[in-house]
Amino acid sequence: MYDPLVSPASSAPEWQFNLKAQSSGIVALESVIVNPNLALWFDRPSNDPLQIDNHSAWGALFNLQTAEVTALNVITNSFCGSGAFLSNGTMASIGGDQMGFPGNPIIKPGTQAIRLFDPCASLTGEGCTLFEDPNLILIEKRWYPSTARIFDGSLIIVGGMHEEAAFYNIDPANSFEFFPRKEQTARPSAFLERSLPTNLFPRILALPDGSVFMVANNQSIIYDVETDTETILPDIPNGVRVSNPTDGSAILLPLSPPDFTPEVLVCGGSNMDDRTPEQNLSSQHPASSQCSRITLTPEGIAKGWEIEHMLTNRTLHELVHLPNGQILVANGAGTGFAGIGGVADPVGTSNSDHAVLVPELYTPSVLQGRRFSNEGMPSSGIARVYHSTITLTPQGNFLIAGSNPNGGSNFTGPGIKFPSEFRVQTLDPPFMFVERPKILSAPQKLAFGSSVTVPVSIPDSLSHDTAKIQVSLMDLGFSTHGFHTGARLVFMNATISEDKKSLTFATPPGGRVFPPGPATVFLTIDDVSSEGASVMMGGGNSPPTLE
Ligand SMILES: *[C@@H]1O[C@H](CO)[C@@H](O)[C@H](O)[C@H]1NC(C)=O
Ligand SMILES: *[C@@H]1O[C@H](CO)[C@@H](O)[C@H](O)[C@H]1NC(C)=O
Ligand SMILES: *[C@@H]1O[C@H](CO)[C@@H](O)[C@H](O)[C@H]1NC(C)=O
Ligand SMILES: *[C@@H]1O[C@H](CO)[C@@H](O)[C@H](O)[C@H]1NC(C)=O
Ligand SMILES: *[C@@H]1O[C@H](CO)[C@@H](O)[C@H](O)[C@H]1NC(C)=O
Ligand SMILES: *[C@@H]1O[C@H](CO)[C@@H](O)[C@H](O)[C@H]1NC(C)=O
Ligand SMILES: *[C@@H]1O[C@H](CO)[C@@H](O)[C@H](O)[C@H]1NC(C)=O
Repeated sequence: MYDPLVSPASSAPEWQFNLKAQSSGIVALESVIVNPNLALWFDRPSNDPLQIDNHSAWGALFNLQTAEVTALNVITNSFCGSGAFLSNGTMASIGGDQMGFPGNPIIKPGTQAIRLFDPCASLTGEGCTLFEDPNLILIEKRWYPSTARIFDGSLIIVGGMHEEAAFYNIDPANSFEFFPRKEQTARPSAFLERSLPTNLFPRILALPDGSVFMVANNQSIIYDVETDTETILPDIPNGVRVSNPTDGSAILLPLSPPDFTPEVLVCGGSNMDDRTPEQNLSSQHPASSQCSRITLTPEGIAKGWEIEHMLTNRTLHELVHLPNGQILVANGAGTGFAGIGGVADPVGTSNSDHAVLVPELYTPSVLQGRRFSNEGMPSSGIARVYHSTITLTPQGNFLIAGSNPNGGSNFTGPGIKFPSEFRVQTLDPPFMFVERPKILSAPQKLAFGSSVTVPVSIPDSLSHDTAKIQVSLMDLGFSTHGFHTGARLVFMNATISEDKKSLTFATPPGGRVFPPGPATVFLTIDDVSSEGASVMMGGGNSPPTLE
């Protein structure tokens, strides 16, 4: 509300979309921050404008400061793979597609691929390369799998399908495996069997006791990695399905000391009947506005999912943490489904329609009914439907790119309402336009269960004694297909020295609360967040490691 006594409306900082680049060079359908200045994107081998070695590139680095795009040499087809960081800071890009693309002959199948991007400090991407060893492969072929780092710093890899199919999972890889391998055969999953045929890109979240929460279709479980047992949780209510091709999104709400009690939020998707052949579905079928929230304690599980609603119906959107613990909901469509062509009435080749252009904010800590707001939120003006991405950056704003419900890169043509989208935007929170606190330096590595003091500078406007101080340890995650895999926010107890020159915080007790690996520390004072300090949580050892 405009209150002339508090601040003149004209000067109040607001959320803004800003066009960052006209061309991302490739369609950014997978997006991950790999160092303080670089995002890494993958597309499929296609006819993208960015070239490498005389052919279209399908991997690229994006310089967050200069908006320059540099092609990466990718050997295998990374289309619709997943990815996450290991405890030693290497990012593993997992799985992908079988097929090649006309005119781009050098592609090798990516379904069993493990592509390694080692830690690279270069702010321009010089010398940063992707390494692909043909002998280092997944046990099963996986297109549309999910990946997350677990308590010992290795990755769990979940589900997917063996060969390309247009819509439902009709050739399932209903199993779990690990990288590095924990055994030589994949572990079969009854949960993935039960959640067919709508279980692609299962939404998986590493919980603070070391187990893994999973939701696919309208089913959810907790998976105990150490005993290989699945505990069934209640279904998502009201027939709402939340994994691909009915993409809803899921997120682990911020974890706080002393108990780090896990709560999961799952939003959007579709209430369609998944026995319906895709030819009988409509691009105009309303997506769901339903959010389901559960506390993963025995009492919380007994209580079950609690329902609330976004301000809009959404599918193909994403849920992303802000450093202050709020959740941003952005991108997506108001109707339809994931996938390219196939429904009865595609829009061009888009299975979805009615792009949702205005983001919403969810505040987990306030009373139900007041949690969603889009007050002061601008419209992006650019449809971000299937194959779009969003990620929080170390600068504290959001990088938004991609969208491509087309068979290749396609800018124009009859009926192309949703062209291949190459424009790159940032969504800038109000704190980007005011004086911000700064973390002046931070150790490269943080040990678990330790007290860390770092120098800070705090503007006068935020120096008052009643200021709300939050220090968050974040995994910025890996964005694709409406899910930000690996994303995590752990609040740390913190105090600021009397002279306002140093900040002391207490790191989490161990890798179950924050799996060892790369992290970003933000200081937020009265909802004004600093830029993030990049650190290694734990010893930086190769997995498996407990420190
Ligand atoms: C790219 O094409 C040019 C012109 O045909 C050729 O000279 C060059 O060797 C090619 N480069 C690669 C890496 O294939
Ligand atoms: C979940 O989906 C299955 C299969 O369509 C259905 O039988 C079941 O009733 C659904 N559960 C809820 C709670 O809607
Ligand atoms: C954080 O503070 C709370 C209460 O002030 C205390 O119980 C808890 O042990 C502290 N946690 C850590 C990780 O320091
Ligand atoms: C799908 O649509 C066709 C043609 O309209 C119809 O004959 C068929 O019964 C429908 N099938 C289902 C399962 O709805
Ligand atoms: C959202 O979907 C419901 C049906 O699930 C529909 O009744 C409602 O009109 C839709 N809302 C909007 C804003 O389209
Ligand atoms: C682009 O769209 C047009 C019109 O739908 C279609 O004819 C053409 O094949 C598409 N090109 C690619 C590369 O997908
Ligand atoms: C990290 O660990 C993985 C798995 O063991 C290994 O392949 C990779 O080379 C390691 N990276 C670094 C930087 O040591």
